[in-house]
Amino acid sequence: KIINVILSGGSGTRLWPLSRESRPKQFLKIFNSQSLFQHTIDRNKKLVDEFLLITNKHQITEANKQISEVKESFSNLIVEPVGRNTAPAIALMSFMVNPEDILFVTPCDHMITNKDVYKSCFNQAIELAKNDYLVTFGIEPKAPETGFGYIEYNNEDVISFREKPDAKTAKEFLASGNFLWNSGMFCFKAGVFLEELKKYRKDIFESSENAIGTIKNNLVDEKAMLSIPEESVDYAVFEKSSKIKTIPSAFEWTDLGSFDSLVGYFQSYPTQIDHIQKLEGTESNNSYFIGNKKALGIGVSDMIIVDTEDCLLILPKGESQKVKEIYNSVKKTD
Ligand code: GDD
Ligand code: MG
Repeated sequence: KIINVILSGGSGTRLWPLSRESRPKQFLKIFNSQSLFQHTIDRNKKLVDEFLLITNKHQITEANKQISEVKESFSNLIVEPVGRNTAPAIALMSFMVNPEDILFVTPCDHMITNKDVYKSCFNQAIELAKNDYLVTFGIEPKAPETGFGYIEYNNEDVISFREKPDAKTAKEFLASGNFLWNSGMFCFKAGVFLEELKKYRKDIFESSENAIGTIKNNLVDEKAMLSIPEESVDYAVFEKSSKIKTIPSAFEWTDLGSFDSLVGYFQSYPTQIDHIQKLEGTESNNSYFIGNKKALGIGVSDMIIVDTEDCLLILPKGESQKVKEIYNSVKKTD
C-alpha cells in the first residue's frame, strides 16, 4: 500500500498576522479559494491508496472541516498534545502501519505546479522505496537559502545531506553546482525508516514506540509525548543514513513560508492566489498589498503591506524572515 502521511504542525509565524495560532498558514484559503492543505490532498489523491494525518490539538478541527470540504477521508489520524518536530511525528505514523507499506511523507505548506512532472518523479521515488531506500526529492536551488536542507548528489546517489547550513556554507553549496534543495517530501517503507531511526536515534525510536500504546481517541498521552526527544527528521535520520537516494526533480516547487515567497509566487502565477495585488499609484513600484481592499500608494517602492481585520504589517521586500521576530515580541496579544 502507498500511504500519504500529511504532516501539519507549525503555525507559520513568518506569515503573521495573516496566519495565527488558531489559523495556521496551511489552512488559509487564498489559493483560488482553497488552502495549501486542500491543494496537497488534491495533488496526491490520484497517486496514493490512503491518507494519514498527524497534527496537533489546535489544528484538528479545521483540518477535519477542510478534509470533508474536498470530499476525502483519512484512514487514520494522530493528534499530538505537543509537537516534538518531524522525526517523532513520522516515527509515530510508521509504527501505525505495516512495515512494508510505503509512506509518502509530505508537508502541507508548499505549492507544486506541473503535475505531470510531479507524477513521474513520484513514480521514480516509489521504485527506489521498494528497494529499501529512503528517498528525497531534490529541487534545483535558486538562492543560498539557509532555511532548507541541501543534498549533495550525483544523479540519484546522495553523497551527503546537510540540513540548514549557515549563509557562507549555503553560498558555497550553490556555487559548487552539486547540491539540490531538499523539498521536505520523503518516500520510504515504514519498516526501513524505523530501522534507520533505531540505528541512529534509538531514544526517539523507543519513546515513540512507547507513545503509540498511550493513544486514546487518536490523542497521544501528553506525558508520553513529552518523553520523546524533539528533533527534525532531517537531523535525526537524513544527515546520517547511508540509504538515502534523491530524485532530482524538475517540477515547480515553492515553499510558501514567508511574505517574500508569497509575493514571488504571485509574480509567477498571478491568477492562482487571491487577495494580493501590485500596489498601484503615483511613483510606486515593486510593492505589493495583501488584503481585501483597493490599495494605492505615492512613492512607495519595494514594500509589502499586509492588511488583516485587526492588524496591519508593513515591511520592506526581502526582509520577511524578520516577521518571526516581530511575532515573538507581540505574541502575548495574538
Ligand atoms: N505533526 C507535526 N508535528 N508536524 C510537524 C511538526 C510536529 O511537531 N513539526 C513540523 N511539522 C510539519 C510542518 O507543519 C511542515 O508541514 C513540515 O512538518 C516540515 O516542518 P518545518 O518546520 O516547516 O520544517 P523546515 O521548513 O524547517 O525544514 C524542512 O522543510 C524544508 C523544505 O520546506 C526540512 O525537511 C528541510 O530540509 C527542507 O528543505
Ligand atoms: Mg517549512
